[in-house]
Amino acid sequence: MSLSLIIFGITSNLAQKYLLPALYDLEEKGLLPENTSIIGVARSPKEEGWIQEHLDLTLSKENLHHKHTIQDPVKQALLKRLHYLNGHLDDPEFYQRLHKKLTDLNSKNLIFYLATYPELYQAIFQNLKDSKLHKSKTGFVRLMIEKPFGQDLNSAKALNKLLHQFFEENQIYRLDHYLGKETLRGILEFRFKTSSNLQPLIDSRHIDHIQVTAIENFGIGERGAFYDRVGALKDVGQNHLLQMLTAATMDKPAKFTNEEVTSERIKILKKLTPLKDSVVFGQYQGYLSEKNVNPSSKTETFFALKTFINNDRFKDIPIYIRAGKKLAQTLTEVVIVFKQGEPKLLRFKIQPEEQLLMSQDPYEALILDAIRGDQTFFNDAEEVEIQWAFIDPLASKKGQPIIYQPGTDGPKEADLLIRRDGRSWAGTQTSDFSKT
Ligand SMILES: NC(=O)c1ccc[n+]([C@@H]2O[C@H](COP(=O)([O-])OP(=O)(O)OC[C@H]3O[C@@H](n4cnc5c(N)ncnc54)[C@H](OP(=O)(O)O)[C@@H]3O)[C@@H](O)[C@H]2O)c1
Repeated sequence: MSLSLIIFGITSNLAQKYLLPALYDLEEKGLLPENTSIIGVARSPKEEGWIQEHLDLTLSKENLHHKHTIQDPVKQALLKRLHYLNGHLDDPEFYQRLHKKLTDLNSKNLIFYLATYPELYQAIFQNLKDSKLHKSKTGFVRLMIEKPFGQDLNSAKALNKLLHQFFEENQIYRLDHYLGKETLRGILEFRFKTSSNLQPLIDSRHIDHIQVTAIENFGIGERGAFYDRVGALKDVGQNHLLQMLTAATMDKPAKFTNEEVTSERIKILKKLTPLKDSVVFGQYQGYLSEKNVNPSSKTETFFALKTFINNDRFKDIPIYIRAGKKLAQTLTEVVIVFKQGEPKLLRFKIQPEEQLLMSQDPYEALILDAIRGDQTFFNDAEEVEIQWAFIDPLASKKGQPIIYQPGTDGPKEADLLIRRDGRSWAGTQTSDFSKT
């Protein structure tokens, strides 16, 4: 296969933290198709040779994500594939140079990875079309597009509409990197592919309630400019937490194809009920002094909510979802609490991951899926829109967030949300867990 992976935004935080380390690992494992080129694009007027320095720096000093030894032969092999093209993504002249580069490389298959600002998408799509790089007669053209996908239902619809003016749905790979996580894919394995005797118990006759948690003991770090515009509900609620919930509750797909798996996820999302009076927003004390945060910001760094899946299987089973920063611990999990008997709980732990057991990082998995043309673990147009349809009414309830102290479990109102139903958050009661 002759393939070019074109990364729009090679100097981005995303490329440094995730994409280049993932590509290094794919190289090390020999998983990149033989004839693969990687073309990094950014504005900065740098010579081609600069990319070597950038890779060195990314893999050495900034190799925070993949904490393992970098082997020189692997790095050299990756470097051979790596090219740099400088240019403005809204400049048609750049696309002529890109076209020439791809012709020189004789690349029949193209994957464009948008590691850049959404404001540039329209110009990118139009220019790809004008330079006839948006489809191929002899191979494939695919587009990898990062979360957040829009900021609400209307903008997500507009983005889908825009995409469909230039690309077919089977060319579009909308990423939520949680869908690349082995631990999340493992939920489906456990529920549907192993002969689990717990799977038949996942219904309203046996379950008391479900909890979905993604909490962190650290703050927003350097992400202030981005985070302050978005907040916890949209940053992780609309995507990661809903993905965890659907993995734990969807019906078994008739077949493990993209269409069937996505359709089962969508069925759950369609039945989720937003309860505007059962949502709590919090902000950690000290957030307003973080870098690039508006000093009078009302952005939430924490949310907790209650919802129901309005279908036969989960009728009247409360679902409690929470996420937040600067809390007492770091933990990402789905917990299914049974009504009685043994086990008391079924816990799907997503993070912290047992590093030694993990053979593949999510970005590796998703890049490979895109190369293979498997969209199962990407969101389709309808899925992102339904996620937003659930989030929008809840987001409309945002007001002044409740201030909570760093290192705690968040606002006490979040505790009350579950305690008034006679229940409690499971994360702190590790000794209760009888099944992991
Ligand atoms: N960072 C993360 O952890 C993360 C996680 C999930 C999703 N995402 C998503 O990934 C995308 C990138 O985010 P980021 O935080 O990594 O962005 P970022 O660090 O701000 O990087 C933006 C990139 O776009 C390039 N760029 C900007 N304007 C350009 C132009 N007119 N022409 C050519 N290149 C241009 C920049 O190149 P220059 O060097 O020339 O400025 C840079 O490489 C966003 O959609 C974001 O939502 C990021």
